[in-house]
Amino acid sequence: MTRLTKTPTHSQTVMNELVLPNDTNTLNNLMGGRLLHWMDICAAIAAQKHANRIVVTASVDNVSFNRAIRLGNLVNMTATVTRAFQTSMEVRLEVWCENIPQGIRHLCNQAYFTFVAVDDAGQPTAVPDLQPETPEEVQQYEGALRRRQLRLVLGGRMKPSEAHELRSIFQDVPPRDYSPGTNP
Ligand SMILES: CC(C)(COP(=O)(O)OP(=O)(O)OC[C@H]1O[C@@H](n2cnc3c(N)ncnc32)[C@H](O)[C@@H]1OP(=O)(O)O)[C@@H](O)C(=O)NCCC(=O)NCCS
Repeated sequence: MTRLTKTPTHSQTVMNELVLPNDTNTLNNLMGGRLLHWMDICAAIAAQKHANRIVVTASVDNVSFNRAIRLGNLVNMTATVTRAFQTSMEVRLEVWCENIPQGIRHLCNQAYFTFVAVDDAGQPTAVPDLQPETPEEVQQYEGALRRRQLRLVLGGRMKPSEAHELRSIFQDVPPRDYSPGTNP
């Protein structure tokens, strides 16, 4: 049977939250855990739109909190599926914070989430293929394979020797000088 194909547009998801007192720490900044919760929901909606299935979070790549988000800010999240594998999907998320009265908007976080589509018994089930359309979507699609290999290696689910696309990035990098007196 031919596998259904979707584009990233099918999964595009936008979610907004207003930072209220109950979301903040004692410095009146948004708590990291609350932001991760919102990011997980936004990314899961995108994955569900692609799969038309219930999805579970399999992993979250490194998330850096580069900029504090203040009480009263609007948090604007956009999520899109970048690539579908067999039962899993990578979702890219951007988080913007906005001070509406001042008209200032900043990119605060970017992250990649991996979701797995499951059936009624909670077993992984196949998802539609993804066909990127724009140059940026193609770039994300191609990078997704390397990112998948990195997270599977770190998660102990793939041997480094099997991560061929990931290893190819480093093949042209000359070995570093670790002799005494150098600063690695
Ligand atoms: C995610 C889960 C469904 C995977 O089940 P499993 O029995 O290990 O299934 P498989 O080994 O067949 O893997 C299924 C897919 O998950 C992917 N996967 C599993 N663990 C992963 C990880 N840590 N990171 C990225 N992808 C992962 C596999 O690569 C595979 O993808 P593919 O089918 O596209 O190739 C299962 O581990 C689970 O239910 N975890 C709990 C999910 C959850 O509760 N999330 C909320 C946490 S708070």
